Parts: sequence; C-alpha cells; structure tokens
Amino acid sequence: MAGRIVKDDIEALRTQADIVAVVGEYTTLKRAGRSYKGLCPFHTEKTPSFTVTPDGNFYNCFGCGVSGDLYDFLMRIEGLEFPEAVESLARRTGFQLRYEQMSARERRAVGERTRLVAATGAARDFLVAQLYAEEGKVARDYLVSRGFSRSDAETFELGYAPNRFDAMARSLTAEGFGEQDLITTGLVARTERGGLRDRFRGRLMFPIHDTGGDVIGFGGRVLPGLDYGGFDPPKYLNSSETPLYKKTRVLYGVHQARSEIVRAEQVLVCEGYTDVMALHQAGVGYSVATCGTAVGVEHLRMLARYAQRVVLAFDGDAAGVKAAERAWEAARELEGDGQGVALDLRVLVLPETSDPADLVTEVGAEGVARAVAEATPVVPFVLRHHLAAADLDTESGRTAALKDALTVLGRESDPDLRREWARTEIAERIGYAYGFVADTAARLGVQLDAHEGVAAGGGSSGAQRRGAAEGGRTAAAPSVTAARARLERAALRALLQHPEHLPVEAAELTEEDLTHPDARAVLRAVRAAGGVGADLQAVVDAAEDDRIRGLLRALALEDDPETADRDVVAEVVAGRIRRLLVDRVDASTRQLREELARLSHTTDPDRVLAVQRELAELQRRRRSLLGQPA
Ligand code: UTP
Ligand code: MN
Repeated sequence: MAGRIVKDDIEALRTQADIVAVVGEYTTLKRAGRSYKGLCPFHTEKTPSFTVTPDGNFYNCFGCGVSGDLYDFLMRIEGLEFPEAVESLARRTGFQLRYEQMSARERRAVGERTRLVAATGAARDFLVAQLYAEEGKVARDYLVSRGFSRSDAETFELGYAPNRFDAMARSLTAEGFGEQDLITTGLVARTERGGLRDRFRGRLMFPIHDTGGDVIGFGGRVLPGLDYGGFDPPKYLNSSETPLYKKTRVLYGVHQARSEIVRAEQVLVCEGYTDVMALHQAGVGYSVATCGTAVGVEHLRMLARYAQRVVLAFDGDAAGVKAAERAWEAARELEGDGQGVALDLRVLVLPETSDPADLVTEVGAEGVARAVAEATPVVPFVLRHHLAAADLDTESGRTAALKDALTVLGRESDPDLRREWARTEIAERIGYAYGFVADTAARLGVQLDAHEGVAAGGGSSGAQRRGAAEGGRTAAAPSVTAARARLERAALRALLQHPEHLPVEAAELTEEDLTHPDARAVLRAVRAAGGVGADLQAVVDAAEDDRIRGLLRALALEDDPETADRDVVAEVVAGRIRRLLVDRVDASTRQLREELARLSHTTDPDRVLAVQRELAELQRRRRSLLGQPA
C-alpha cells in the first residue's frame, strides 16, 4: 500500500491534468475568453459566478469565495485529504504515481481512510464475486424476480453475502487486511471467543459510495427462502456508524447519479435502494435515496452542490408530511448558515401504498418525469396538509386554520413567495379576502407587504430577502449575496483593468462599501499598494496571501464583455464604482431615517434638525453620484 507520494509526481500531475475537464464533471463550463464559466458546484446560484482559469490552474467563485487549484478543488468537493486528492486525480487521468519508501513510522501514519476504503473496496469485490458464484443463485434469482438485469446489478455493483458465519472475514484477512481495520469498517465483528464473524449474512448487498466513488458502507436485503437461524431478521441491514459511514451523510446512488443530477438540474430523493435502481433502469438517472434516514441538512448540503431543485418522493401518508416538514426545516437551516444556499424543495406525493419503483411500473419513465416536473413546492404542500386537517365550515374553525397556516407561512423567507402563497394557498382555499389575510398576518408578525431589497443589483437570494424582511439586521455585517458579489467583482475588475477610466470618486471606496471578504481583501491590497490606479504588480505584491494574489490575477485577466467596447468603457466603469458608493449613501440614509422616526417622540429639536440636514446632504450626494440634476 501507499507510502508518501513522490513530490515530482504531485507537481507533474498538477501541471498535466486538465482542470477544465475535471471540474467539468461537476458543473457545466462554458468558455469565456481565457477562462471558463459555470454555476458554482459549491453553492447554489442561478447565474454563473464560478470561473476556471486553465492557464493558472485556478478556480474561483466570487459568489461564495472558494478558490484554489485542482487539488484544492477535489479536496473540497469530495471531502478528501491532500494525498487522497492526488490519488483520486491520478486514478481519473490514468497517471501512474510513484511512492517513496516508507519508514515504519510513516507506514503507521498512512491515512486511516485510505486503509478503510481499501478494505470496503475489497469487500465489494468479494461480494460481487459471490453473487456470480454458485452460492449466489438465490440472490440472482431474486433480482430476476424483481425485474433487474445483470447490467443493472453491475451498474450498482450489487453483491451477495454468503449465508455463512465468517466467509467475508476469512477472505479479507487472507487478502492481508488487518483485523482491526476490518472491525472498524463495521463489516465484521469480534466474537466472544476472539474470532471474527460477518455482519451481513445471506443478503443481497448494495454497496454505498461517497460522491467520489469510494465504497463507504453497505445495505443488505434479506432474501426469500433463506434460513436465518430461526431469527426474524430486519428486511434491510445497513452499515453501522464508522469513520467512513455517517448515516446523516449517506446518499445511496449519488456516485452513479451525480452527473445526471447536474444535467437534469434536479435530484429526486427517495427512500430505498430498489427505488433508485428502478428509476435508474427506467432512465430517471437523477435519483438518490437516504436509506431509511430522514432527509437532513447534511444531505441537502451535499445535493446543493449539484442542483438547486430537490424533489422528495414520499409516501402520501402522515409520515411523509412529517418528513417533508423536517426536510423543509433542514433546508431553512442550510439557507441560514450564511452560505446563501436557497434550495427549491418540492414534494412528489405518491399514493399511500406505492413507492417510486411502483410508479415506474405504472407510468413509465415519461410518467415519472412528468410527476417530478409537477411536484409541489414544499410550502404549499405543507399548507395544504394543514388546511386539509382543519374545519373550514365554521367561522371559528376558519380563524384557527388561518392562524395556523400563517404561522407556517411565516417560516418562508422569500417575501414574494409569502405573498403568492398567502393568496393562492391560504386566502383562496379558506375563502377569505386577501386584505383580511394580510391584516391578520401583520398582527401575527408575518410580513406580507412589498418590501424593497436592501442590496443593489436586482436578483436577490433568500438570505438577503430575509435580511430585509426581518429588519433590524442592518447593524450586523452586510450579507453577501450572489448578485452583490457579482457587482463587487465587476467593479474590482474595472478598477484593475481600466485605471485610466476610473471616476474621481473611486478614491473614496472603502472596505465598508464591499460585502464579500475577498473583495475587501482585494481593496486592501489596492490601498496598500498606494490606492486606485496603482501598478498591478505592486497590488499583487501587497496582497495578504496566495489566494488573494490568485484572485487579483484572475480579476486582472478576466474577459469583461461589457467593457470591451471603447466607447462605453468609461461609462460602465464609473457606473459600477458609483453603484457601490450609492449603496453606502442608501445605508446611511436608512439609518438616519430610522433615527428620525425614533427622535420624533423625544424633545431633541437640535438633533432632529441635524439629522434632517444630513439626510438632505445624502440626497444631494446620491443625485450627483447618479448624474442627476442637483
Ligand atoms: P422499504 O421497506 O420501502 O424497502 O424501505 P424497499 O426499498 O421498497 O425495498 P424492497 O422493494 O422491499 O426490496 C425503504 C428503505 O428503508 C430502509 C432501506 O433503505 C429501504 O430501502 N430500510 C427499510 C431499512 O434500513 N431497514 C428496514 O428494515 C427496512
Ligand atoms: Mn419501498
């Protein structure tokens, strides 16, 4: 097994590998001058702010701030350690890595994960071989009875765990795997007499992969007709929690489905192994399963890398509704953790006694695709369920239902959606006028009126909208939104690429005008190098670390179609810089207006006057920045 990778190989692989091809497996990249652009695989966005610059072997997302080289990319997207990222890249590109001789100490230090993954991979190979051996006939027959072909089984690397005491333990120890490592993988357990026994016996085996394709665990299904020693075993047995297998992060089929999810721009989340296989067989390749665990925030975080739209296929019973509410809660948690991830969560309601595999049988691939397309957004789904349980025939019942529904609606962070659903899902369904619903909402503290977004730049994410809706957040650091980050990037690009076209006000830009930490770091470097208009090399030298240096080079190189036209370049550049400054004026204006509102209740006429003067001054400045008559 591996020792330390030869350093020259790491460098050679780094320069040889095609960063565009590798990153392109995770997101669709389109050429844009010297770089490639696409939707960021690390956060959810609608317009691309993720760039890959092959010349510099460099990627960067101005939306969420990630950047680095190809190894960084693999570490981040697959959750790998550095040597694992090197090995993964070598595997993908067919590069033969060399390893240095290891000392005994180094041998011990070889990553545990690498050893465990080698063991689970060998276990998978053993189980696959057993499926096609004589003993595996019972499992092969079962697959046929379920309508799965040999090629389906091969796609999912299905195997068979012999119905014997220690078949796998014997085979893997004979291959040289350490007993302790085998126990740590959860595949075998120590017996009271000190031997080893298999955890999975007499089962059809489903290997579970991580997104990078390493086997992290297994699910095993009982087979009809086998003798389980007089016990009535659970239908499915999954790997226990191990350093590799964390059930809150397991998505069955994600490795096979990943590229389809990116292509379809959506993912269908079902409950079980056979659902995923049946859907895949029917051509619906963008499905995964949580394997008996509720959909949680970690699942959604993984899926958000690949698609924004997440469709949950649940049974139509009360448990399904609960699961949907919990998934919605997880989505809100994800959205609230500062990454600006806003998922489009939907629910595909299945008849009570059916699952996605049945759906495929009944309506075929096209029918499934249609059902997925028509899946209900999670909030209306939950609202409908609440209203279905309410008594809408009496006034008191309707009042209670309205309150209940508005409480649910209050959890939706997007004010536009709150308004829409207050109308279509609450007012119309209960039979109240919208105005009455809005008044009641106001009394319950649920905001329904139109509200201006705080930040400039049009499009606004859920996180930003929430900032606006909840108010009182303005004192905190401004929230970074994708649209805002794009504006900042564009302004800094202009600043670095067109110093001769900068308006005089550019000198006034301060860090407070920028929300993105990287943008702030770029401006710091510009100022440290002597201010706007400084020589690019001086700015790069003044950057605080390699990442910001890389970002500066990317900004200076990036193509900018808007400033390509010589006739408008000055106007575009000035417009971007002024936009940032206007936002600061607007923020100060808001603060002063709030102060004024509070002051009117006091007897401090001097302060009132002073605030009014300041406000008038800000308005003049705003008009002048926007080139409007004073
Ligand atoms: P189901 O009972 O619906 O199984 O459980 P299924 O996938 O339709 O399987 P078949 O069609 O009967 O073979 C859904 C999922 O819940 C988990 C499994 O992940 C299963 O696929 N489960 C179920 C368990 O983990 N343990 C169990 O005992 C049962
Ligand atoms: Mn099922």
